[in-house]
Formats: sequence, structure tokens, C-alpha cells
Amino acid sequence: MPRHVAIIMDGNGRWAKKRFLPRVAGHVKGVELVREAVRACLERGIHYLTLFAFSSENWRRPQEEVTLLMQLFVKALEQEVDKLDRNGVRLHVIGDLSRFEPRLQQLIRDAEAKTAGNDRLDLTIAANYGGRWDIMQAVNRMLAADPEKREGWQEGDLEPYLSMAYAPEPDLFIRTGGEERISNFLLWQLAYTEFYFTPTLWPDFNTAEFDKAIASYQARERRFGRTSEQLAEPPNA
Ligand code: IPE
Ligand code: IPE
Ligand code: MG
Repeated sequence: MPRHVAIIMDGNGRWAKKRFLPRVAGHVKGVELVREAVRACLERGIHYLTLFAFSSENWRRPQEEVTLLMQLFVKALEQEVDKLDRNGVRLHVIGDLSRFEPRLQQLIRDAEAKTAGNDRLDLTIAANYGGRWDIMQAVNRMLAADPEKREGWQEGDLEPYLSMAYAPEPDLFIRTGGEERISNFLLWQLAYTEFYFTPTLWPDFNTAEFDKAIASYQARERRFGRTSEQLAEPPNA
């Protein structure tokens, strides 16, 4: 089983369009599939699930759609947090939250605080998140923490300041909806992640689809720069 799965949940708009429904109907349906994905992770013992809900570029969408997405986010937080808490889920929201309404920011902080003691599943929602933003905020905080230091910075110096410092890097990255791009999601953290792209639209990405992605992951050989033969050797040979 992968320890950490990261997903770009794409295709809600097209799912709705196919049914002659407004785009927001796709987002509403998409929330149901988030519930299903969380359940699948709990049942399979996947410890980290990270979901891209809103990118820093999604503000460019029509005002009406952005407003509806924010309302859905508020509603999901109000309705789901108790259940997540009862199921041992710890919630994290990553991204530049300063652009969200104060009420939403407060709901996020409360939900994180309420679930902070849980350890069955770390569920991370990336909201107003961008991979480049993450790296830059980490660089700025790293430099501010040691203003005297002029050179010699290492990768390991930056990592504690990245938004997902609490999690191992994703083992499996899934993008639904047919596009094969990262769209400024986790950039640093995906360096050695296995990628899985599927044309299935997010509102159709049920547990059976999730299991297909996991099976694809399980059939891969993760070499991390080594040769296949090296991986076959016992560790101390
Ligand atoms: C993903 O679905 C959800 C968000 C970006 C919030 P889209 O809304 O991008 O759906 P498509 O890609 O237009 O079908
Ligand atoms: C990426 O989807 C972001 C989320 C799923 C939240 P988009 O639909 O916004 O990505 P692009 O614009 O097609 O790359
Ligand atoms: Mg899209």
C-alpha cells in the first residue's frame, strides 16, 4: 500500500456539462467522492491523503463559481468535521489562507485544532495552494530564521518550512479528468512520486477506480536512481 496518496481532483465541470447541469453540480457531486476516498484510505490503511481542492490560479474562474466553491468548502467543514474526528482523521489545510474570508479561516483553524490529536489518517486539503508559492514561503521563512547565514544552504534546511513538513513525500500521485499536468500542485514533494493519470472524471472516481490506481502503483518498481539488480540484492549484501 502507498503510505501517502496525493490527488488532483479534476473534471467536475465536464461531468456536469455532460449531464446538462451547471458546473457547480459537479463540485457538489465531487464532495461525495472526497468522502468515498477518505473512507477507502481508512479501510486500506493509507495514512496520508492530500487533495487539491483549489489552486492559486482558480481565482481566475468566474466570480460566481469561485463564490460557490467557497460556500461548498464552508459547508463541508461545518458538516464533516465531527465525523472526521470520530474516525481518527487529522485535518490539515495548506495554502495561502489569507485570501479567504475571516469566517472560513476561523472554521479551518477550529477544524485543525479539533482533530489535532488524531493519528489514523492525515487528510490534507490544498486550498489557494501553489507549489511555487510553497517553495517561496519556505525559502523566506528559512532565511528569516537564520539571518546571519550567507551560504551553504542544503535541501534539508528548507524541508522543515514546506507546508507538508509533517508528512512523508507522496508515493502515488493521481490526476483524474484526463489532463496530464501538475498545475502547480506539490512541486518539491513529487520529485520521486509515481504518477497515475486517468480520463475518469473526479465525480466518477469511486473506490473501484481508486483500487485500479493502487494496483498500478503496486506493479511499479521504484528505483530511486538505482538499478533493478541492486534492488533485488538483500540490503546488506
Ligand atoms: C476540478 O474540476 C475542481 C476544481 C478545480 C475546483 P474542474 O472544475 O476543473 O472541472 P473541469 O476540468 O472544468 O471539468
Ligand atoms: C487543478 O485543476 C486544480 C484543482 C483540481 C483544484 P484545474 O482544472 O484548475 O487545472 P488546469 O487549469 O486545467 O491546469
Ligand atoms: Mg479542471
